[in-house]
Amino acid sequence: MKQDLFRKKTLAHINEELANGLIDGHSNNMSKVLTVRDLTFMGIAAIVGAGIFSTIGKASFDGGPGIILLFLFVSIACGFSAICYAEFASMVPVSGSAYTYSYVAFGEVIAWIIGWDLLMEYAIGNIAVAISWSDYFTSLVNHIRIGNLQLHIPEYFATDYWTAKDQLTDAAKLAWANAPVIGGTRIICNLPAFLITVIITWIIYVGIKESKRSTNAMVILKMAIILLVMIGGCFYVNTDNWTPFLPNGIGGVLTGTSAVFFSYIGFDAISTTAEECKNPQRDLPKAMFYSLIICTVVYILVALVLTGMTSYTHLNVGDPLAYVFSTMNSPFAQKISIIISISAVIATASVLLVFQLGQPRIWMSMSRDGLLPPIFARIHPKYKTPSFSTILTGVIVGVPALFMNLTVVVDLTSVGTLFAFVLVCGGILKLQNDDNRLQSKFKTPYLNGKWIVPAMFIGSIVLFEKFYPGGFKSYLNFADKTGNITWEVIRNKVPFFLFGITFLITAILSFIRKYSIIPVMGFLCCTYLLSESGSTNWERFLVWLVIGLILYFVYGYKHSKLSKQVA
Ligand code: ALA
Repeated sequence: MKQDLFRKKTLAHINEELANGLIDGHSNNMSKVLTVRDLTFMGIAAIVGAGIFSTIGKASFDGGPGIILLFLFVSIACGFSAICYAEFASMVPVSGSAYTYSYVAFGEVIAWIIGWDLLMEYAIGNIAVAISWSDYFTSLVNHIRIGNLQLHIPEYFATDYWTAKDQLTDAAKLAWANAPVIGGTRIICNLPAFLITVIITWIIYVGIKESKRSTNAMVILKMAIILLVMIGGCFYVNTDNWTPFLPNGIGGVLTGTSAVFFSYIGFDAISTTAEECKNPQRDLPKAMFYSLIICTVVYILVALVLTGMTSYTHLNVGDPLAYVFSTMNSPFAQKISIIISISAVIATASVLLVFQLGQPRIWMSMSRDGLLPPIFARIHPKYKTPSFSTILTGVIVGVPALFMNLTVVVDLTSVGTLFAFVLVCGGILKLQNDDNRLQSKFKTPYLNGKWIVPAMFIGSIVLFEKFYPGGFKSYLNFADKTGNITWEVIRNKVPFFLFGITFLITAILSFIRKYSIIPVMGFLCCTYLLSESGSTNWERFLVWLVIGLILYFVYGYKHSKLSKQVA
């Protein structure tokens, strides 16, 4: 049983099938049209979206101008992970991304878990992006006047039921008050979020070339507009706003971890198009780095302009970039504000497109391996896209987007994606001395961590003792303010404990196995960010994994292609 659970795919098998134009008996007849430029554009299309246009506002409000430190830290964490992703993409150039990589590195059950987990990054993440798109679109439409006619989308058709029920904002109050009632139930749903999902799904369904053209056009437009924001914003920056730099200390900055990490998600998504690349082994690694570097520079500059134009205390809004320009006393700034709103609609649509493209391709890989029914790998005879999987992704994203709450889905997406990054970095460590790596054209540079990682661990302990208020003694105290030991206090400390234990084990293994620094850093940075994600998110995530495991034992375990080979 244990052997079956951890049965692995071999690179020799994958490469043979690729060379024959076949993958596990399915004709690999997808169009190979993507170049390094297209892939870089796709990376940027996936990265720059709801995060920089929306969640940066709350993160800056909590962290002040010092939020740029978090952008830098998260970008470094993503950079380490990108190097590991790039090596895997170069070693295993097929569509499954982290799922396929885990199949080679860890074996089937972990591969299934990661495939199931990626559903969180792609599909659940896209629910968040669709909701965010709807927010911008609705506010844009509400600014449009044709003659005497003021366009307006009713609030009850532009929000979810639970947000409306909580009535925390004016829009939510209006939605609750004005919603039509049928059979005693208020009809409240997010129609624009559903409709944009339908449109994007259709674009992807009709072909990768069409997706490529749409992506490139949207990226050029959104980057041009962000450039305009940065240059235009420079004229309104007041450097006094950058002081105090850390108004709420490092703790305030870390509050924005999920939001900032969400804004970087996407560079990994391009690895799902490996079978549609002209030269995946060369182009995928390059495109990941290019898109990540470009986005990091853009994010830090945008954060500087944003926090320089106004006091961070005003930034707790859903449309911070448009908002800061709208508060400037100048007609030029007002025009920029509207342009930003338009570009946010385009930017978030392009993120949707890339993730809607990625999810079906992961399912396709899982189906080819027998872990999902064959229909998930069916390629449309005319459009050459995974037809059933594409439509199913549309349904899985579009329908919940009608009803779900934004914050919950953003948090879940960040946890799910960090988990995938942790496994990809761990996979490179696991394969450190494996012959499989010889086939990779891009290799993670090796820097011996034998002494450095344990030294980092000891250094961290010393720093924690010195800088955490009250040191370890205080941290290990599980009593609440009234002096009682409560489950709530313990629960909140569990994630960081787990990080500490993981760090210790990694330090010991690095000493014994001379682990390479880069994957270790990716692994540790992402584990740390996971520990900052809050226990509620961890619990939701664990429930998700348990459901996934049940499905694996009901279907995948029995139908796996590898099980047939063994038999
Ligand atoms: N990085 C993507 C965004 O910010 C998910 O929308």
